[in-house]
Amino acid sequence: NNYCVILAGGKGMRLWPSSRENEPKQFIDFFGVGRTQLQQTYERFAKIIPKENIFINTTQQYLHYVVEQLPDVDGNHIMAEPVHRNTAPSVAWASHRIQHINPKANLIVTPSDQAVFKEDVFKENILEGLDFVAKHDRLLTMGVKPTRPEPGYGYIQLGDHSGEDDIYKVKAFTEKPDREFAKMFVDSGEWYWNTGLFLANVKYLRKCLASFLPSVLPNLDLARPDWTIAEENEFVEQYFPSFPNVSLDYGVLEKSDNVYVMKCDFGWADLGTWHGIYEATRKVDGDNVCVDTQAYFDDSHNNIVKLPKGRIGVINGLDGYIVAEKDNVLFICKKGDSSSLIRKYVNEIQLKL
Ligand code: GDD
Ligand code: MG
Repeated sequence: NNYCVILAGGKGMRLWPSSRENEPKQFIDFFGVGRTQLQQTYERFAKIIPKENIFINTTQQYLHYVVEQLPDVDGNHIMAEPVHRNTAPSVAWASHRIQHINPKANLIVTPSDQAVFKEDVFKENILEGLDFVAKHDRLLTMGVKPTRPEPGYGYIQLGDHSGEDDIYKVKAFTEKPDREFAKMFVDSGEWYWNTGLFLANVKYLRKCLASFLPSVLPNLDLARPDWTIAEENEFVEQYFPSFPNVSLDYGVLEKSDNVYVMKCDFGWADLGTWHGIYEATRKVDGDNVCVDTQAYFDDSHNNIVKLPKGRIGVINGLDGYIVAEKDNVLFICKKGDSSSLIRKYVNEIQLKL
């Protein structure tokens, strides 16, 4: 009864300019290992969940990447949203389709922008989590110990022990706090990072979605179970644009008082931001990181560099910067400031290019 939904419809803008809206991070072989992040995520889950129970959710804009990169996945298992409405409507649609296939399904929803270094522990944790949501009408997240006050993540405050494994009741869930709060959370030692891995049985998930996002499920449920996939897609095309643009974190996890968290330690790393990649990657002299790039560092520390194939970087006297070049953009930015800077400039620059 175990099912997996891989989310792969984000625009990946926080890794700009190496990740672009027309070619986001999850479809790029970012590290030059021969596999994209989407392919690595799929392979990781194919060892845990039967392949016929894995679904890939993306948007129509990126459908061609999924089809090309995962040629073995059946077309009926790829769900392409007509417009970008973030993860809550996407998961609602997946839950609608999966409950018709198996009303007893237990779901794990996963992002496609992260790395896992201890796959055996990961597998064990995922199976324990699926078992937990099969038994209980509860939402389950997977938390890891925070290492820095990163404002771009969700923060989970641990409450009482659930009585099972390493699972605790969530006292509070705060998505993307500002930097000061993030610092307080990390200093307190009581808060964990949300990894974005999310589990529930399909029946209970739908109950939560119906109460927190009342405009979404009732509309999706007008799609009849005996329709063909093509008919369902056509129907979704009409309704999807009217759905709210909201993530599962803001739309459901922050609102529910029935969320649990498993304390995990499977070597999690976020690959969605420059800082996340810096932390997850092996350092060379002076604590610099070269992502599939050749560079010489002189009196330079804590930088992350990604240049196009064949380019060589020579860097002197630089501390704590991102140096990234792709196509027609060269980006040099202090590491901690990149997300807000990118947000500030990217639209304007895209228009000029
Ligand atoms: N299908 C689909 N449709 N997928 C989407 C959409 C969409 O409209 N928007 C985003 N995604 C995918 C992304 O490609 C990514 O794999 C995943 O959903 C999560 O989206 P992000 O945009 O990367 O979220 P985030 O990094 O800001 O925050 C999430 O992850 C953090 C950990 O990395 C949250 O869950 C945080 O709480 C968490 O800490
Ligand atoms: Mg992310």
